[in-house]
Amino acid sequence: MSSSIKKPFILTLFGASGDLAKLKIFPALYELAQRKLLPEEYFIVGYARSEKTRAEFQKEFLYSIIEAYGKRPSFSTKVLDSLIEHIHYFSGQYDVKEDFQKYRISLKKLIGRHDIASLCHIAYFSVPPSVFEPITIKLAETRTSPQEDLRIILEKPFGNDEPSAARLFNVISRYFSEDQVYLLDHYLGKTSVQSILSLRHSNSILNSLLKGKEIASIQITAVEDIGIENRVGYFDSVGIIKDMFQSHLTQILAMMTMSIPISEDGESFQREKYAILSALKFSPKKENLFLGQYKSYKNLDGVKKGSTTETYMSVKIKIDRESWYGVPIFVRTGKKLDRKTTYVVVEFKKMQFQKNLESNRLILELQPEEKIHFKLLNKHGHLSEYHEIDAIESIECAPETCLPEHAVLLLDVLKKEKLHFLSFGEILAAWRITDSIFEFREKANIQTVEYEDGTSCPQGSDVLFQKTEEKWYEV
Ligand code: BG6
Repeated sequence: MSSSIKKPFILTLFGASGDLAKLKIFPALYELAQRKLLPEEYFIVGYARSEKTRAEFQKEFLYSIIEAYGKRPSFSTKVLDSLIEHIHYFSGQYDVKEDFQKYRISLKKLIGRHDIASLCHIAYFSVPPSVFEPITIKLAETRTSPQEDLRIILEKPFGNDEPSAARLFNVISRYFSEDQVYLLDHYLGKTSVQSILSLRHSNSILNSLLKGKEIASIQITAVEDIGIENRVGYFDSVGIIKDMFQSHLTQILAMMTMSIPISEDGESFQREKYAILSALKFSPKKENLFLGQYKSYKNLDGVKKGSTTETYMSVKIKIDRESWYGVPIFVRTGKKLDRKTTYVVVEFKKMQFQKNLESNRLILELQPEEKIHFKLLNKHGHLSEYHEIDAIESIECAPETCLPEHAVLLLDVLKKEKLHFLSFGEILAAWRITDSIFEFREKANIQTVEYEDGTSCPQGSDVLFQKTEEKWYEV
């Protein structure tokens, strides 16, 4: 269990009336409170444009927690009542300096004997990306000095392509040093994703196998049974390549293939991930990309007529490094399929005399369950029998025992721990490959193929395997 925080802090939650706050951040705070991981004194302030009283905001907070946890046996009204006491509200615009000045004055009153300049102050941007810049600027303009312990959390999407992300980071770095900025991809808060690194860091046998020259291919699958539902406003102009591939899946790939640094600090991990992300390449050929859209998508309220937004993608990419020469990487992700699962399959190379035998595989299931398998071939006489050896037992991570991603990451920010956050460079590098896929899509006029809701794999998605004997590996 993570250690608790002793020092008081302020958490300003910009966009406190939005879905991200209600669905992820309020529950994260409740979980931290329930496990007694928060200090005695802390101040959580919802900052949003809508006029409302503190009592009204507290009620919203309360209802969203009851909705999420009310039926769980471990739910505690005592924890919730005490957490509510720490909740405050301020109504202000995101781009008006006077509102930020007033906010400062109200914060000073709130924190009483504490000095605002030395207190840890986390500003969580739970707002649409369009207001990332104004909030950054107003926060910076109204702080006492750049040395103030102000830590800002921004959650993906970071821009819409490389140039827009670069512009955003330019603005941010004019006002904040990179160590004050926490760029959050919630996949990095998943214990299963974190264990890729710990597994690799602690097992040299495994690590010596995870080298390009030993590997025939890598497959990453991240599919969901849910559709877009009420997120059309965001999704229809974004699509799944930017929504899932750009950050979540390129991060998983980087963790699987990067060199393991000796030091276990955020900067060293980010450096190694960057080395992979910046070497990712998409070869512009039609057989390397497949895009799909589930049948009922076009009927959703708000979807533009004739929308070609992809809700499914499969793509073949490579790592442009000598050590990964000739190793294809197949990635697929989609909505409204028949299951929710995320896993990675590493297929090891075979010798010529093993040509007709099954490959050895390492399979990392990341969700819904966390499991690691080594599939090895064991021969009995003239029979080839396929034995599955689970190198590690499934790791139990039930909601009752494991912290949700946002709670894990909030705790990291409180501890000033950067291991599970992204760097500007990583994000820009991931945009470069994403943009190159988009460019090719336009140029080659790649069509979005309709697929049935609830299918296991859209027809045509295996176009990537045209020149190999491979197929998608199903767990
Ligand atoms: C989000 C995407 O970042 O991740 C969603 O915007 C997606 O479209 C979600 O559904 C998947 O996250 P998880 O944790 O459910 O796998």
